[in-house]
Amino acid sequence: MSRPGFGPQKILVSTHLRLGVNIDHVATLRNARGGREPDTIRAAAIVGRAGGDSITAHLREDRRHITDDDIKRLKAEIDLPLNMEMAATDEMVAIAIANRPHAVCIVPERRAELTTEGGLDVVSAAAALSPRIAKLNAAGIQVALFVDPDPAQVEATKKSGAPALEFHTGEYCNASERTRAKELKRLEEASAYAASLGLEVHAGHGLTVANVGPVARIPHIVELNIGHTIVAEAVFIGFEAAIHGMRTAMDRARASTASRVEARR
Ligand code: PXP
Repeated sequence: MSRPGFGPQKILVSTHLRLGVNIDHVATLRNARGGREPDTIRAAAIVGRAGGDSITAHLREDRRHITDDDIKRLKAEIDLPLNMEMAATDEMVAIAIANRPHAVCIVPERRAELTTEGGLDVVSAAAALSPRIAKLNAAGIQVALFVDPDPAQVEATKKSGAPALEFHTGEYCNASERTRAKELKRLEEASAYAASLGLEVHAGHGLTVANVGPVARIPHIVELNIGHTIVAEAVFIGFEAAIHGMRTAMDRARASTASRVEARR
């Protein structure tokens, strides 16, 4: 591919790859009984001491897990940065501006889906997205768009005025052994391209301790947002140990990237 950004370039690799812990499914479990347990605030307090860098929470239009009250309390009671995932609606923009999370990640939302099934089509939705991104930028909230690792979506994100994007890693995570290398290459190339345009690069969806290594080694990625596997693993080993396990897997992979880049200099 001959797009700019794919050729050799100087890469500054941060050895610290940020981990945003998505606590949606702590709320899913709480909502199964309609009470207060497990408490999302207690979960968020554990994230910091277990090695997470930020809290990610998706306020869906149907409020199936995280609620408006969770967002309010996470912002008021927890010191870590809050990344609010949301659809690009006027209602969600107003809630974000009222609560001032550190960042928002704009995701596509379909009511019947079990989870976010694909990236935003920023190419076709640019007219609807740009004014909302401008309002969030003006409020000092970092905006990332959740997109597939596709150069056209990267370019459209740059044009939209969002300073960051998050690549949907679902295709990579769900790939068969035969196609996984191809999906990883798409992520690597799209990350290099996005970084060359000055976009901050995040990634997430479907990552586990078993598959996070190759993604954590991509030097342009500075943040991963991971939820389901951490909450699932917490059932067996505890929330703190599950976060710590992911942190360790990411750090090991990242350390090998830093030494590879150092060796090339
Ligand atoms: N990033 C985004 C934008 C998401 O929508 C999700 C799922 O809510 C995640 C990351 C985390 O995905 P998972 O729960 O599969 O780790």
